[in-house]
Amino acid sequence: MIEFQNLTKTYGPLRAVDGLSLRVERGEVYALLGPNGAGKTTALRCLATLQAPTSGTALVGDADVREQPLVVRARIGFLAASMGLYERLTPVELLEYFGRLHHMEGPALEGRVAELTHMFGITPFASQRCGTLSTGQAQRVSVARALVHDPPALILDEPTMGLDVLSGEVIYRFIEAERDRGKAILFSTHQMAEVELLADRVGVLSGGRLVAEGTPASLIERTGERNLARAFLALVQGDDGSEGEGEDISPEEPA
Ligand SMILES: Nc1ncnc2c1ncn2[C@@H]1O[C@H](COP(=O)(O)OP(=O)(O)OP(=O)(O)O)[C@@H](O)[C@H]1O
Ligand SMILES: [Mg+2]
Repeated sequence: MIEFQNLTKTYGPLRAVDGLSLRVERGEVYALLGPNGAGKTTALRCLATLQAPTSGTALVGDADVREQPLVVRARIGFLAASMGLYERLTPVELLEYFGRLHHMEGPALEGRVAELTHMFGITPFASQRCGTLSTGQAQRVSVARALVHDPPALILDEPTMGLDVLSGEVIYRFIEAERDRGKAILFSTHQMAEVELLADRVGVLSGGRLVAEGTPASLIERTGERNLARAFLALVQGDDGSEGEGEDISPEEPA
């Protein structure tokens, strides 16, 4: 459903994303891990058609980000790490606005907004202006906004950043429910507990390159570490950018 094909994005001499290939199937949750600056946001933004790849490409279903960006946009829900909301709108007005941008209207739009408002616990502040919401309240509205058109692929850049345990739990339950509905979900995070809880597969980016890929359990086993946090450290510290090392941690072929 989601596929990166040897995607590279450079900024001058910097290879922010360097030959990234990966696939996320329907009904699969894939976590993208990597230290600050590893290229996670850049990769997700290329997939979301917000930045053009320098070479290579990404697809959602059969739609290529280079050739059919509008088709890609209709098929994805994209949550940016720092997404502004329109401060003067209430959450309900905001959701209706984005629904209309996706050509929704009438009872279908109203029903979807009511469903999302309920699902993300937005009801208590549904008529408050977005500019006055707390971080966690605003984040829930941002997630709901990304989903208003019920897209088959979800791309979430640090969806639980700044959330308390309860708000995080709302997002986890939602991601699991969407997986069960057959959606393909690609998210980035720095929270290892969240990866162990949610992710079917994990990809580790370091210096723009995918240095390891597999189930959380397989990465732990391959590195011989006792948990995913330690496995992650071993993978990114073992990756010093030189060739010929770490053959045992190279990405697996997708099943
Ligand atoms: N518009 C830009 N112009 C120049 N360099 C950029 C630009 N956007 C990103 N970069 C650089 O590309 C690299 C990857 O950045 P990116 O934001 O993708 O990392 P990230 O993995 O999302 O990090 P974090 O965990 O901190 O969110 C960084 O070195 C960053 O400085
Ligand atoms: Mg980022």
